[in-house]
Amino acid sequence: MTDFQRYLHAKRTVDDRAIDRRVLDHLERELPEGPLDVVEIGAGVGTGISRLLDWGVLSGDVSYTAIDRRAENVAAAREHLLEAGFVEEGDRLRRDGVAVSLVAGDAFDALEGDYDLLIAQAVLDLVDLDGALPILFAALSPGGLAYFPITFDGGTLFDPAHPIDGRVVEAYHRDMDREGSSRTGRLLLSAVPEADGEVLAAGSSDWVVYPPYRDEEREFLGHILDTIEGALAEDLGSEFEDWLTTRRGQVDREELTYVAHQLDVLCRV
Ligand SMILES: C[S@@+](CC[C@H](N)C(=O)[O-])C[C@H]1O[C@@H](n2cnc3c(N)ncnc32)[C@H](O)[C@@H]1O
Repeated sequence: MTDFQRYLHAKRTVDDRAIDRRVLDHLERELPEGPLDVVEIGAGVGTGISRLLDWGVLSGDVSYTAIDRRAENVAAAREHLLEAGFVEEGDRLRRDGVAVSLVAGDAFDALEGDYDLLIAQAVLDLVDLDGALPILFAALSPGGLAYFPITFDGGTLFDPAHPIDGRVVEAYHRDMDREGSSRTGRLLLSAVPEADGEVLAAGSSDWVVYPPYRDEEREFLGHILDTIEGALAEDLGSEFEDWLTTRRGQVDREELTYVAHQLDVLCRV
């Protein structure tokens, strides 16, 4: 398993706590009766799929296409779903009425269809939102639903405080802005109507990780610090080295609290 895949597994419990249940309940109420055609883009190691089944959001006759651009993530998703009770059925994986097709490729090239529901979890902040939304919405049937949980929205907090937190966070968010946007959560609220969609529900899904750490959340925090290091090492010099050493020590001693502000958004086209 790669470090990134370990991170995606480790973030499962953090996401479980974060996901806005009101927005999710709204999604459940809006799902049409009968066979359902679902697509997820940037599905990672497939934990979003098993969660929706474990929580009873998806059941019955569901065809679920999960796309990720990295073939190794698709392979890891297959492994995860088999461990989560799915069984092989031809080239699909099935648990109860839900049949999953795993696809490796760039979602924005591979996406075609007439889906009832499109899901992108922790993905839209990585891409150009204005370019992406029309492509995503075009893959939905009229009245189809789009669910965008765990969308980063410009808040990174650490406790205890460190003198250069402000500079680190600003540079980290600036790095995200190179390809996607560190403010995607709130931007969605105006971008959806501009792309002829309607926002049905929105709510916060902040990651809140605090001592004592549960499950694999120490590893999760280690990955967050590695990501910040990868983004900023060249920008901030020796003071940043001190920041990283301090933060890693706090994770080892279970002293660090980390909060990331995110939004869940449900919309209809
Ligand atoms: C932050 S991870 C989130 C994974 C998963 N949705 C989750 O929340 O655990 C983003 C995922 O999107 C995938 N991804 C990014 N851009 C993509 C694209 N254009 N097409 C398909 N997958 C993409 C990455 O490979 C990665 O697995």
